[in-house]
Amino acid sequence: MKYKKMTAEQAAALIKHGDTVSVSGFTAAGSPRVVTAALAVRAEAEHEAGREFKINLYTGALTNECVDEALAKAHAIDKRMPFQGSPAMRAGINAGEINYFDMHLSVVGQYVRYGFLGKIDYCIIEALAINEDGEIVLSGGVGCVDTYSQVADKIIIELNSAYDAKIRGLHDIYTPATPPHRREIPIYEPQDRIGSPILRVDPKKVVAVVDCHYKYGVKPFTPVDETTAQLGKNVARFLTEELQSGRIPAEFLPLQSGVGNVSNAILHELQEADDIPPFKLYTEVLQDQVIDLIDMGRCTFASSGSLALSDEVYDKVMDNIDFYKQHIVLRPYELSNHPEIVRRLGIVAINTALEADIFGNVNSTHVMGTKMMNGVGGAADFARNAYISVFICPSVAKGGSISAIVPYVSHVDSSEHSVMVLITEQGIADLRGKSPRQRAELIVENCAHPSYRPLLREYLKLMDGVAGHTPLSLHNAFSFHEEFLRSGDMHNTQFE
Ligand code: COA
Repeated sequence: MKYKKMTAEQAAALIKHGDTVSVSGFTAAGSPRVVTAALAVRAEAEHEAGREFKINLYTGALTNECVDEALAKAHAIDKRMPFQGSPAMRAGINAGEINYFDMHLSVVGQYVRYGFLGKIDYCIIEALAINEDGEIVLSGGVGCVDTYSQVADKIIIELNSAYDAKIRGLHDIYTPATPPHRREIPIYEPQDRIGSPILRVDPKKVVAVVDCHYKYGVKPFTPVDETTAQLGKNVARFLTEELQSGRIPAEFLPLQSGVGNVSNAILHELQEADDIPPFKLYTEVLQDQVIDLIDMGRCTFASSGSLALSDEVYDKVMDNIDFYKQHIVLRPYELSNHPEIVRRLGIVAINTALEADIFGNVNSTHVMGTKMMNGVGGAADFARNAYISVFICPSVAKGGSISAIVPYVSHVDSSEHSVMVLITEQGIADLRGKSPRQRAELIVENCAHPSYRPLLREYLKLMDGVAGHTPLSLHNAFSFHEEFLRSGDMHNTQFE
């Protein structure tokens, strides 16, 4: 092969302080490991020698412990975008050390191509195969690598021999043109393929190929508990009623489901929802539960940007890859989350909130309004453009000391205008066509935990007779949050 082989340390040594480094992948799937791990070691050595060493890091989204965790622990990150979920990265962001730009995933590619986020020096790509023409077989995570590899000055390849290149054919790589030359994206059904099964890069830009062998090391989700099972049943009940009333057509509509434990549990409940016909997914990430749904014939096709699977399930997919190629396609998230396609396909979007307020505004990202959890990810790409946009969450967190239903959210990611239905384990609030006062009553009575309903009713009562369209008390709107910060339990809230 004409490419220069290097060790991870040699490849990491190419990267300079101040460089902007982008990486392939989306979740642990497809994210590099060895070069970033070596870069973290190098950063620590530079710091010990009294020299500055920080890079800007652009990823697909979540990565793995050798990218976000290692580089954040090494204090080697200045700017970071667009989504993360690692404890060390979160700590660096919340300490103000890392400048985090949290953005809708569907626009990351175009922001980069339009030049909004500056120059990219390196793109590190996990590849299962590369030929002399720069044709790369990617693994189970695509993210934004199509754009990053086009824009970056130089490319470093991690050639991973732990997975077989027979995955080739699962991908659909396509990058929309730049306005004013952009046309419609011709995906009319989730299974339509419009691009290439391989990623094409300029072979002249490949400055290093690093041989490596690693599995992703992803653990399974926490098992479904009573609360998430009930939440899932409520989602299934909602979808069934929509179907029976004719608001969802008999042939059903593609579903999108968010990330995390709660979403995984929802899909588990859809397994047994007999009144819902077999369905398709047009979504951002596929979690373990989707593979069960495909095996059972409940999910007939899934379009996604990533196989965010535990190792055990990932291996199962790779062992039967020819079967799964008939049921799964992986695309850049510019396509998997694209507003045009979400609106055209009529997607029913189901995303998870950290908290929601009595008007239907949703906070998916900030704990107590200030501390970043993960990021907005693709939730709002889907929510804003969905046929029906549902947000779900358990009604309480942290053993009941936090109500997920609050007078006013401490941060807004999806506004009341993008949230049509709110579902907790307590029940369903259908917000379509309702005024703020009507929404408030529905959410308090149907979704709030019974132990918080008296407080929320008291809050609403404060606003009785107060003029205005939205019953908002500027003075008391954050009293639940303030009380939690004061006493550690929102139940102790007293209004003034
Ligand atoms: N206040 C403070 N903490 C809260 C909270 C609240 N209102 N609600 C939940 N939490 C905490 C939980 O206690 C838990 O903490 P722990 O990790 O210390 O146990 C953590 O948040 C995660 O909650 P969990 O109930 O396990 O939910 P999850 O794993 O399903 O994640 C989100 C929920 C909102 C964090 C996650 O879905 C997310 O990052 N969403 C944003 C991106 C997105 O929606 N992408 C989807 C597009 S496809």
